[in-house]
Amino acid sequence: MYYTNDLEIKPCRGDCSCMRTTGKCFQEDDMNWLLPKVEDANILVLASPLYCDGVTGPMKMFMDRLVPVIHLTMEIRDGHLRHPARKDMNLEKIVLVSNCGFWEIDNFDPIVAHIKAFSKNINAEYVGELLRPHGHFFRAMLENDMSVNDVIESARQAGCQLVENGKMSSETIANVSRPLMSRDAFLQMANQNLLSDQNQE
Ligand SMILES: Cc1cc2nc3c(=O)[nH]c(=O)nc-3n(C[C@H](O)[C@H](O)[C@H](O)COP(=O)(O)O)c2cc1C
Repeated sequence: MYYTNDLEIKPCRGDCSCMRTTGKCFQEDDMNWLLPKVEDANILVLASPLYCDGVTGPMKMFMDRLVPVIHLTMEIRDGHLRHPARKDMNLEKIVLVSNCGFWEIDNFDPIVAHIKAFSKNINAEYVGELLRPHGHFFRAMLENDMSVNDVIESARQAGCQLVENGKMSSETIANVSRPLMSRDAFLQMANQNLLSDQNQE
């Protein structure tokens, strides 16, 4: 497990010599050792909180710097022009793990669409997502022992299913995202907390 926030990953400079020839970026940073690990892995799990309807900045920089895994030439794949994968890559599957602040699950629609499209473009199968809406409350409930361990247990099971069967069951995925409270209760509690923070300022 690697935290993009703690790594030095410089932004892609759009030079594309990595895709055209060497398969290696001209920049020296933590991607030097991280990219070979991605190429060797069978499954890549991208985990990011939802920031402005997408992944965080450091995660996006990491994703941009994965382009050396594909070649700049083009081919038609599933009726669509794409870049072919480099022959020496093992990466087969991509999974998304995300949490967000708002209550509704549809807040994740843009990030899911993004990672699905990204998976197609780097020639890996998108195998699904573990999503935790109202993540802030989830953390508070977890810290206060408020019967949300089943959510953690489902996330663990999803990982086992992925390794053993190559996919996660829809029941397990649904339990990871299960509502922790009604939307009205969430709205009331969130505003209470926010207003009391405001009064303390
Ligand atoms: C810059 C920023 C942008 C955010 N954008 C969204 C958003 O678009 N939708 C949403 O539901 N939550 C959004 N959030 C809330 C976070 O997704 C939420 O607080 C999440 O639990 C943070 O994850 P963490 O506790 O692992 O840091 C945003 C938070 C920040 C700081």
